[in-house]
Amino acid sequence: MGICFYEKEKVFQIDTKNTSYVIALIDKEGFVGHAYYGKRLYEADVAYLTRMQEGCRTPETNERDRLSFYDCFPMEYPTHGIGDFRESALRVEDANGHWANKLTYKGHEIFAGKKKLAGLPATWCEKEEDAQTLELTLEDKEAGLEVVLSYSVFADVDAVVRSARIVNVSETTVYLTKAMSASFDMDNRDYDKILLYGSWARERHIDRTPVNYGIQMARSNRGEGGHQEHAFTALLEKNADQNHGEVYGMDLIYSGNFRTLMEKNQFDNIRTMTGINPEDFRWELVPGAQFQTPEAVLVYSEEGLGGMSRCFHDLYRNHLIRGYYRDKKRPILINNWEATYFNFSTEKLLSIARDASALGIEMLVMDDGWFGNRYDDNRALGDWEVNEEKLQGGLGYLVDEVNKLGMKFGIWFEPEMISPESELYKEHPDWAIQVPGRVPGLARNQMVLDISREEVADYIFEKMAKVLHSANIEYVKWDMNRPLSDIASAALPKERQGEIFHRYVLGVYRMQERLLTEFPNLLLENCSGGGARFDAGMLYYSPQIWTSDDTDAIERLEIQEGTALIYPLSAMGAHVSDCPNHTVGRTTPFATRGVVALAGTFGYELDVTKISENDRNQIPEQCRTYHKYNDLVRTGDYYRMASYRETHTHDAYMVVAKDKTEALVTYVMVKRRANSRSRNIKLLGLDPDKTYRIEGQERTYLGSTLMNAGILAEDTWGDNQAWLYHIVEA
Ligand code: DGJ
Repeated sequence: MGICFYEKEKVFQIDTKNTSYVIALIDKEGFVGHAYYGKRLYEADVAYLTRMQEGCRTPETNERDRLSFYDCFPMEYPTHGIGDFRESALRVEDANGHWANKLTYKGHEIFAGKKKLAGLPATWCEKEEDAQTLELTLEDKEAGLEVVLSYSVFADVDAVVRSARIVNVSETTVYLTKAMSASFDMDNRDYDKILLYGSWARERHIDRTPVNYGIQMARSNRGEGGHQEHAFTALLEKNADQNHGEVYGMDLIYSGNFRTLMEKNQFDNIRTMTGINPEDFRWELVPGAQFQTPEAVLVYSEEGLGGMSRCFHDLYRNHLIRGYYRDKKRPILINNWEATYFNFSTEKLLSIARDASALGIEMLVMDDGWFGNRYDDNRALGDWEVNEEKLQGGLGYLVDEVNKLGMKFGIWFEPEMISPESELYKEHPDWAIQVPGRVPGLARNQMVLDISREEVADYIFEKMAKVLHSANIEYVKWDMNRPLSDIASAALPKERQGEIFHRYVLGVYRMQERLLTEFPNLLLENCSGGGARFDAGMLYYSPQIWTSDDTDAIERLEIQEGTALIYPLSAMGAHVSDCPNHTVGRTTPFATRGVVALAGTFGYELDVTKISENDRNQIPEQCRTYHKYNDLVRTGDYYRMASYRETHTHDAYMVVAKDKTEALVTYVMVKRRANSRSRNIKLLGLDPDKTYRIEGQERTYLGSTLMNAGILAEDTWGDNQAWLYHIVEA
């Protein structure tokens, strides 16, 4: 790892162990260009890659064609309105309503460590020597604007994290209408792109298509990331697969509206960009004020998608996730949502807890329905008082009884919401986001609280804190079940209504930070109608996130594959639920449901008092299996050998310990073929020279044998069967 400025070549070289990122200063005007990102370079002088000796040349040598220069130069942070007609990263309206900006080099600073981003989640390092940062200041003298581009690298992972800070150094107020986090230009090498798309209960499915001419993008304007699209993109060589080929990945540490795009232009260059969605964004910058963008993460790997995923996993596990549970095994939980929905009482919950604790389950989570007159999903959001008609004896009694069984207790909140039928709405109708004079659109019969307002956020926080202080509650599931619409805030003047979406996200972050400060040992699990808020921003606050409301083991294969493309298995909320599955109606073996849920945080979502004896009897063994393998699954390196999405028959992945002394292989045979034989699977990531044994078998194998010749995976009767193979050093 290292960041250097080469004075003579006027080049910044940002190195991780295996990658380099090079920025070049061009011309006496000091244009800041992106020269290179990819495999590690050992000489810095690659400014020629900006091609300024060809065609359009620079203004210094060809003033008459300045616009041609602007429209082909790989600007490190492209601005709007001066002749670069590709997508811009920055758009600022000045006091006269004009929006042309030109940025050139002003200065830089290179230092050890990494600064915090005000109010935003971001990567961090424990010790200063673990990271290095370049702050590159660009200026537009005419406009009185400065942009500080920040780049950090870490000693232990091949990732570059970037953000931008826009400073108004003029004497008039300006309006930011676009401020992206990162942009970089590169030659097209016939790349494919990967975007993640989906829907409720079908989140983060992988979509791989060629990069076409023009702009292709993923975005959200829902106020959260959403189920449908994701702020992640990868560019990969045509022949790149799980284990080979060049891949560039880009993710955004943010939980609100985003825009992630790539644009292939007339010269076959690709500009890739990510940041806050500029649609409906307008931010007032008074003289002296600054705007900090969220942080973007760039990863380059020549070991295919698997190599990229392992970098993201390490970065997020080591430098994003925080808190008490970061490196700890999480308690096996049982959640009563699919067991009872709204129909529960103290006695019902205790009956579940009694059976669950006897079977090895460690925490009871009480989901939606414990407060106000919440007998269904039509009312009471915002009324965070315990419903003692349902919870007879009160919350304290319930929690004590659960604790007496040796179990922890967790609770559900949906802090950002308000039901029109609630005490809170009667008192504060103006706290709900709605456009005055227009009937607001409801979703699940609820509205969104204006969390951008501190007094609203503080009120809700204090209500939550009171409940959490009232009993020994060790886990919170923070849910959010509708997107934002009918945008208006009673607290902002008309020219600042475009700040609401981002201020809302900042409000959520502030609340979650307060929660973790007041309850430092709390295990927080974010959730949004399933997995609509599975994003890197949320990971900064909660070490685990609910992946999807679809708990069907087979559906989960694709959802978990897409999620694990970026996010570590330690973060994926995964539960065993009852069958027929409540989302798709499929019946799968209980054992298969257990094996698939082991790839995540592991828990149950069923009425353990009602399931068949055969299923119930498998729970103790499943819990033992979780304890046996979770350290490995949480901390190891993830490799994928086969994807059900592609094979349409089976799925296979494995987790290898960092020291390569053991590995856990998961094989799921979804569809059995007639007259078929065992399947040969080549393992990955082992030490070729170590000798291994497959637990339960006598003979030993060299790692190279397991990786080159492979294993023969079982083939038994019936669909939807799953196996685990524990590979241990002999
Ligand atoms: C959506 C979540 O994803 C579910 O797990 C459950 O908590 C419901 N909301 C409760 O309303």
